[in-house]
Amino acid sequence: MNKKLIIAVDGYSSCGKSTFAKAIARELNYIFIDSGAMYRAVTLYCMRKGYIDRSTVKEDKINNSMADINIRFRYNPDIEEHETYLNGENVEEEIRQVEVSSLVSIISKIRSVRERLVEMQREIGIMKSIVMDGRDIGTVVFPDADIKIFMTASPEIRAERRYKELIGKGVKVNYDEVLNNISERDTIDSGREISPLKKAEDAYILDNSEMTVNQQMVWFRDILSKKSGDEGRN
Ligand code: DC
Repeated sequence: MNKKLIIAVDGYSSCGKSTFAKAIARELNYIFIDSGAMYRAVTLYCMRKGYIDRSTVKEDKINNSMADINIRFRYNPDIEEHETYLNGENVEEEIRQVEVSSLVSIISKIRSVRERLVEMQREIGIMKSIVMDGRDIGTVVFPDADIKIFMTASPEIRAERRYKELIGKGVKVNYDEVLNNISERDTIDSGREISPLKKAEDAYILDNSEMTVNQQMVWFRDILSKKSGDEGRN
């Protein structure tokens, strides 16, 4: 397909959204944008400033800081991936830590944070030819996205995948802790007032509980060829 597309991949935490979205980006030679990394970067900023911890959230301070936060993605040719930069600093590793994961849902409920990040995401979207993953990409950020995918998998399977990923990176966690964090994030993400996680009406559902990445790509190619067929007819 020659047309430049915006592809939105939304879904629950640890569903394999970024693995799948990266595979799509690689196949189409598109840019992959991890919108969750942006919420994580804001969370890290607020943790460092002392605006959030397990017992307090200084919302006024956070609202006032949004103009000082700059988030960019830069390509690292050594790992052939984009990395997240917070005010010029590479924070890719730090934003994946458990402490950030446990506070990010609280940060992502805050209106000023969402408004600013949606604005940045739309700026990135101007160039098209992107695959962006997150929770509200097909519903709020790009309601006119060309292809919308809503991913899901059972919480136990998601926890197992995330647990293995963290252990593989040398992070010390136990499975129950990971499962609890996933269930907690599902509840907060789906129940929040602003831009809750929900399937866009025109999104394709992909339950990848029992699917390999290759199988998911076969599924995607089928959607893409249907889309190309529709474009050809219009
Ligand atoms: O995709 P992730 O798990 O790295 O995302 C981290 C958190 O950010 C997740 O708990 C929900 C939030 N998020 C969001 O609210 N909206 C998005 N578009 C992306 C992520």
